Amino acid sequence: MNISFIYQDEPRGLAHAISINKDFTGDDDFVVLLGDNILDESLFKLRRKYYDSKADSLILIKEVDHPYDFGVVKFGADGKAEKLVEKPKEFISSYAIVGVYIFNKSIYDQIEVLKPSHRGELEITDAISNQVESNINVSTHILESYWFDSGTRAGLLEANKTLLIEANKFDNVDSNVKDSYLHGNIDIKEKTSIENSNLMGPIFIGKNVKIYNSTIGPFTTIADNCVIENCELQETIVMEDTFIKDAYCIASVVHRGMEIEGKQTIINKLFAG
Ligand code: G1P
Repeated sequence: MNISFIYQDEPRGLAHAISINKDFTGDDDFVVLLGDNILDESLFKLRRKYYDSKADSLILIKEVDHPYDFGVVKFGADGKAEKLVEKPKEFISSYAIVGVYIFNKSIYDQIEVLKPSHRGELEITDAISNQVESNINVSTHILESYWFDSGTRAGLLEANKTLLIEANKFDNVDSNVKDSYLHGNIDIKEKTSIENSNLMGPIFIGKNVKIYNSTIGPFTTIADNCVIENCELQETIVMEDTFIKDAYCIASVVHRGMEIEGKQTIINKLFAG
C-alpha cells in the first residue's frame, strides 16, 4: 500500500486540514476519518448511501447525552439537516457529528470563505452548515455502532474496555507463563513473560513485556516492551516502553516511556510525568 502524508503546519482546524488536500484529491470524492474517533461502521455501506442519496456531503451522526462537546445537527420538519453548530453553548439537538465524512470537491468552495471560529479554527461543521444553507445536498447517516472520541482519558479507557470485550480472545501461545493464575480472555503476544502473577481478563498484553509479582485486570491493556513489577493494575492502559514498580493503578492511562518507581497510587489519572 502506498500512503501519502500531507502535514498541516499548525493546528488551524479540521477544515484547514482538509483544504490542504485539494490538489491531492483533485476531482475525486473522498472520505475524512478523524483519527481519535473509534467506531465500527462499514465504509462500503456509507459509500453506497452517499451515492444512492446523490449527496455532495455525507455526515455520520449519533445521539448523545452531552452534545455540547461536539458539532451537532438540527433537523427540519422534513427530516433533513437544517443547521449545524460546532460545540453549541445552548441545546440545539442531541445528534452529534461523528468524525467520519464523505465529500466531493464542492466542499473546498465552502472552506475558502470560512472565518476562524471562537476557538480560532476553521471548522468543517461551519463549511457543511453553509452547504445546507445554500441548498447543497447534505445527507446524514445515523451510526449504530459504539462511538468513542478517544481524545480524553475517560474516552480512551471506555474505548479500551469495549474493544477488549469485543475482541473476546484467549491467546498465549508464544509467551512464557510461570507460577501464575490466568482467568478470562487474555491475549498475550510473543516474547512476553509472566511470573508469579494473577491475571483477570479481559486483558491485552503486547510483545516483549515482563510482568512479575503483580495482579492485572480486568479491562487492562499493556503495550509492547513494558516491565511491570509488584503492581496492581485495573482498568488501565500502559503505553509502550514503560517501567512500573510497586504501583497501584486504577482507571488510569500511563504514557509511553514512563518510569514509575516507589510506592505510588495512581487513580483516575493521565500519567504523563
Ligand atoms: C471535531 C469536530 C466535531 C465532531 C468531533 C467528533 O471536534 O469539530 O464537529 O463532533 O470532532 O469527534 P474536535 O475533536 O476538534 O473538538
